Amino acid sequence: MAMRCAYVRTQSADDPLSGLVVGDLPDPGSPAEGWLPVDVRAAALNHHDLWSLRGVGLPSERLPMVLGTDAAGTLGDGTEVVVHAVIASSSWTGEETLDPRRTLLSELHPGTLAERVWVPARNVVPKAPELSWAEAACLPTAYLTAYRMLFDAADLRPGHTVLVQGAGGGVATAAIVLGRAAGLRVWVTSRSEAKRDRALEVGAHQAFPVGARMPEQVDAVLETVGEATWGHSLRSLRPGGTVAVAGATSGAMPPAELSRVFFRSLRIVGTTMGTREQLRDLQQLLVATGTRPLIDTVVPLAETGTALGRMASGEVSGKLVVDIVGESGPQR
Ligand SMILES: NC(=O)c1ccc[n+]([C@@H]2O[C@H](COP(=O)([O-])OP(=O)(O)OC[C@H]3O[C@@H](n4cnc5c(N)ncnc54)[C@H](OP(=O)(O)O)[C@@H]3O)[C@@H](O)[C@H]2O)c1
Repeated sequence: MAMRCAYVRTQSADDPLSGLVVGDLPDPGSPAEGWLPVDVRAAALNHHDLWSLRGVGLPSERLPMVLGTDAAGTLGDGTEVVVHAVIASSSWTGEETLDPRRTLLSELHPGTLAERVWVPARNVVPKAPELSWAEAACLPTAYLTAYRMLFDAADLRPGHTVLVQGAGGGVATAAIVLGRAAGLRVWVTSRSEAKRDRALEVGAHQAFPVGARMPEQVDAVLETVGEATWGHSLRSLRPGGTVAVAGATSGAMPPAELSRVFFRSLRIVGTTMGTREQLRDLQQLLVATGTRPLIDTVVPLAETGTALGRMASGEVSGKLVVDIVGESGPQR
């Protein structure tokens, strides 16, 4: 059976969208016992999809590969679920993100930008009925990553001050929204004045240009930008503060500044995605506080390329969501 999907046909570091196709591929079926199909209602885009198109993290011998790490949809019996994209190896019993052989959907197994995605049964969690399909689709990658950076890696508590670098990004806007909901003082940087204004509108307390001196040193910094902001992140931390790192969009090899790290007892904590339990807890936080993911635009599957182009050019503020069931489908 064929299914409509957005997939990587070829990869190009300089022109990633040239290898993107929206078309039909065969339904891959279950790769192993215990996997089940999810009929996808909405899927969100992430920088991860651009990395796959550029040839980072996705070996060319795995092409064609369906893109997408985020989805909300239904099981065969109609149960509404959110898909957890971290696929641990079948024998792994520990925390799934710590499995050295784990992959994300679209790295080894076909991803979520499709009418159907197959996942291990343990990789679905109930969708909170209060969330729309589009809102729920934002959670498994950017929002889960931000949730874990804030409350696990950086161990922030109400009243703490967090600096979020690159305010316009998907993970960064998630961190602003969630940090504000949890009683943190949220400061941000962005290259763009418009995105700084937008960050203030959606919950940041103060917004600064990239590299600006902070009014005071912060308890933690959330880093997904990398080389362009790393030095500023270290300079902005109070002694004993934490920089939580989950990405390096602008480059992954900044000067380490080890003297600053040890003289000021800084903690650098790497973190990837989050656990199923954290995906449940994240939904509870949203429901209890009335907070909702910040969505830039919802597009039909056919416009995946245009939306990814906007992401590549850094124009986006919030999440880009793909409505898999089509423009006529319900968007609660
Ligand atoms: N480890 C994980 O589990 C995990 C999960 C999700 C994402 N990630 C990684 O985290 C990164 C962000 O992901 P995303 O989906 O949030 O991406 P995104 O939506 O494309 O956001 C990237 C943001 O980085 C900032 N930025 C980019 N280049 C910059 C530069 N040269 N100088 C300053 N700022 C720059 C921009 O912020 P402004 O335009 O506001 O300045 C941009 O909005 C990616 O590298 C992704 O692979 C990792």
